[in-house]
Amino acid sequence: MRPKTILVIGGAGYIGSHQVKLLDQRGYNVIVYDNLSTGYRDLVTVDNFEEGDLADKDRLREVFNKYQIDAVMHFAAFIQVGESIKDPAKYYRNNVTNAINLLDIMLEYDVKNLIFSSTAAVYGEPEEIPIKETHTKAPINPYGRSKLMIEKILKDYDQAYGLRYTCFRYFNASGADDSGRIGEKHNPETHLIPLILQTALGERDDIYIFGIDYNTKDGTCIRDFVHVNDLADAHIKGLERLFGGGGSETFNLGSGKGYSVKEIINQAKEITGVDFKVVEGERRDGDPAILIADSSKVKQVLKWEPKYTLNDIIRTAWNWHKHN
Ligand code: UFG
Repeated sequence: MRPKTILVIGGAGYIGSHQVKLLDQRGYNVIVYDNLSTGYRDLVTVDNFEEGDLADKDRLREVFNKYQIDAVMHFAAFIQVGESIKDPAKYYRNNVTNAINLLDIMLEYDVKNLIFSSTAAVYGEPEEIPIKETHTKAPINPYGRSKLMIEKILKDYDQAYGLRYTCFRYFNASGADDSGRIGEKHNPETHLIPLILQTALGERDDIYIFGIDYNTKDGTCIRDFVHVNDLADAHIKGLERLFGGGGSETFNLGSGKGYSVKEIINQAKEITGVDFKVVEGERRDGDPAILIADSSKVKQVLKWEPKYTLNDIIRTAWNWHKHN
């Protein structure tokens, strides 16, 4: 039997590149499609790289003609909450319009298996912790709304055209591949762990804590960090379920454990051995106090279990940052 061919849209990005590496290791034939707007060519660890934009349907058709694609994984979205508030058009154009382009081309070529990256941002301000998939969806920014729109569109496409999908709502994706070959690279960087590690490396003067007056054990926000390779493993389980005839499903992807910003900083100080400067400051707009996933559904249905601890997350991220 020929290995299944997976088209990874956004395979040069942070999460996409880890997915590509794991798919390749597991014997899949992997094709990367990326416009390199936020991705990096050197994060792509397979030979089949196709540069292209999702706005360009003809370019997509070329790729679908060239390869016999069995499934698509879609990682190519913009992800910065703050930017989405300042420039919502950018988010709706890429995260919604361009995603619809992709769905349309998939249907044109009769490719009906999709793995889709969504976000905990679809829930908005949590009413209950841990957050179940059935929680109210009330996103508080255009980024979250753009993802929720596609989730709804996927439902309609499944019903009308039989496009089957596995949708994952990520909590805080973090860490890096153990090899140190690929890792998190954002420009500008806005995420907590990379910023902390850049501070430990002396690339920044200090790490700024956004708010110390939250109603949490130490006053700082609590987040659910999940290692990028655990995410990638869940995606392959979701893919195999679709190949096995399973229907469309949406899952939270988090570890189910929450750590405060201060706890992350302290663990990072221990792992790096650097006593970097920490500044306690004002809250950042739009940060819920606590985000923790109820991940029982993905554990039960996909038999997924996160393998990496918080220590592993910071250790692998540190290994990557030190060498990049
Ligand atoms: N934080 C700081 N200082 C910093 C950066 C972050 O204190 O310099 C804090 C934030 O206030 C937050 C926590 O660290 O409490 C984590 O912040 P990140 O920016 O790393 O991650 P978020 O939880 O804000 O964002 C994640 C995803 C988004 C998604 C969001 C909501 O990265 O894509 O969860 O689900 F939209």
